[in-house]
Amino acid sequence: MFRKIAHSTFAIIVAIFAFISTAYAQPDGKALFQSNCASCHNPIKESTGPALQGVSARVPSKEWLHDWVKNSASLIASGDKYANEVYKKWGMIPMTPFPNLSNEEIDAIIDYVETYQPPTAAAPAAGAAAEGAAEENTWLYTVITLVLLVFTIILWRINHALRRVANEKEGITNQKDIPVYRNKVFIAIAAILVFIGAGYWVVNGSVEMGRQQNYIPEQPIFYSHKVHAGINQINCLYCHSGAEKSKHAMIPSTNVCMNCHKQINEYTGEPLYTMEGKEVDGTKEIQKLYEYAGWNPEKKDYNRDAEGNILAKPIEWVKIHNLPDHVYFNHSQHVAVGEVACQRCHGGIQEMDEVYQFSSLSMGWCINCHRETEVQFADNNYYSIFEKYHEEIKSGKRTGVTVEDIGGIECQKCHY
Ligand code: HEC
Ligand code: HEC
Ligand code: HEC
Ligand code: HEC
Ligand code: HEC
Ligand code: HEC
Repeated sequence: MFRKIAHSTFAIIVAIFAFISTAYAQPDGKALFQSNCASCHNPIKESTGPALQGVSARVPSKEWLHDWVKNSASLIASGDKYANEVYKKWGMIPMTPFPNLSNEEIDAIIDYVETYQPPTAAAPAAGAAAEGAAEENTWLYTVITLVLLVFTIILWRINHALRRVANEKEGITNQKDIPVYRNKVFIAIAAILVFIGAGYWVVNGSVEMGRQQNYIPEQPIFYSHKVHAGINQINCLYCHSGAEKSKHAMIPSTNVCMNCHKQINEYTGEPLYTMEGKEVDGTKEIQKLYEYAGWNPEKKDYNRDAEGNILAKPIEWVKIHNLPDHVYFNHSQHVAVGEVACQRCHGGIQEMDEVYQFSSLSMGWCINCHRETEVQFADNNYYSIFEKYHEEIKSGKRTGVTVEDIGGIECQKCHY
């Protein structure tokens, strides 16, 4: 009888854990969409690629979707009819392959876009609903944990009682019963659990503090990188000239904007939308720029006070990327010396109406890239001091040099 109880308990506990892990292992469709697809797709608007809402109904099958997202080029090459149709319709722009996404992750992304709703007037409600769902999950988790705990205690008591009965039968005298809360084993286990839980929470919280992947703040002017760096092909360095020459890429001053916007006083391009799907009036946004710059478009001159000083105020752009103070990161080292493209770290900025933080900026992110990336060694003067590597390459002993090889994962290179 005792064995039977133990067996069925075990089965129940396994079932409960299986339930918890399926409930919790679900990939986050929204985050996956934003970090992988949002540079080219919007759920409800055409962008570089088609609007994805309704896609499940358009495509031949779910498997087709998996194959397409993992590698659209091979599906097109295989002669698949629908794949070739979409490809032609979109001007034969190849879509990035995502061989690393699992079928579950792709399904989660599709679920997200299919259920996506542009928050119009009811925006706060939609946000609250999403938060509500997250809260419900936490509740579920807490309740299950509590049930499990009570269950364990009951079983333990049953076990205890059974042993007493058995002892009595065999004529062994039982020790006096100690109440649970004074039981030393119980107190020790509880103390250890609390300690581990609190420790995990504190350490995790402090490591993640300040991390903000996918952060997308609202800016004082709806300035679109897609309009400027994408459609109008303005070079990143025109505005972020620091990236090539110094530690900081820097945000351009209002004067840089006015180089062009003294002339360009209205927006005539494609309609603009915020991430939430609200339409933006580009011309009004340019008016905002004029207010900051102190420019009077009718007089075609700056507003000045009695002494002739321009009446301007700085635009307070909200900073998005922010490394902790103990980390040393230098743009020119990566952009000029390493010849790393901005997009490898910042994503497809030229496709973003609103900039968001594409990478995690965690230490693992820096180190992984330093391990994998080969420096452009051959004809780069900066590396002439590494004679040993040059000789090894000449003699064929070595095919390439990674950032790690030149010391890129030594602690003091990145930490003050
Ligand atoms: C580099 C830009 C780019 C990225 C990133 C991208 N796509 Fe695409 N996608 C396209 C283009 C362009 C098309 C249209 C077909 C073509 O030209 O290849 C397309 C087509 C599609 C289609 C077929 C749509 C239809 O109407 O039948 C699906 C599904 C799709 N993409 C899903 C995704 C998912 C999911 C992601 C993220 C994991 C993603 N795409 C990331 C550019 C991109
Ligand atoms: C016409 C000027 C202009 C051009 C061209 C431009 N940017 Fe920007 N960039 C800005 C302004 C203004 C901001 C601050 C507002 C914002 O975040 O949208 C900014 C913000 C950014 C940020 C976020 C900064 C932060 O706060 O962390 C990144 C990253 C960035 N730009 C990268 C690029 C890249 C990459 C390109 C080229 C593909 C580019 N920019 C082209 C003006 C420009
Ligand atoms: C090299 C020229 C150039 C520079 C520099 C420039 N712009 Fe623009 N801007 C344009 C062009 C071109 C358009 C698109 C006009 C159109 O399509 O009708 C535009 C459109 C806009 C719009 C309306 C569309 C949108 O993005 O919301 C705003 C607002 C704007 N610019 C703000 C700025 C700000 C702020 C800066 C400085 C950080 C700046 N621009 C720097 C050329 C420039
Ligand atoms: C190797 C990765 C990497 C590359 C390549 C890179 N950035 Fe950055 N960028 C970062 C990191 C990390 C930060 C945050 C820096 C900080 O907080 O000190 C950042 C911050 C920025 C900022 C915010 C202002 C600042 O200087 O802190 C801008 C703007 C920016 N980058 C633009 C660019 C442009 C434009 C390029 C290409 C010419 C580029 N970045 C290339 C990693 C990169
Ligand atoms: C996309 C790849 C990539 C990422 C991400 C990246 N780096 Fe680098 N890093 C490079 C390359 C390539 C070089 C080699 C350029 C050179 O020799 O200076 C380099 C060089 C460096 C160096 C100089 C190393 C030396 O031995 O001279 C430092 C310091 C550095 N990176 C810091 C960082 C930090 C901090 C981060 C994260 C915030 C980061 N990097 C993220 C690619 C990357
Ligand atoms: C390529 C650059 C790079 C190198 C090399 C590097 N770190 Fe870091 N480290 C970072 C960055 C970036 C962060 C900030 C991460 C964040 O904000 O979460 C960080 C954070 C930390 C933290 C704070 C805890 C955390 O995760 O945020 C500690 C401790 C640390 N590093 C220790 C080390 C030690 C020890 C080494 C040498 C074995 C080392 N680092 C080498 C880039 C680097």
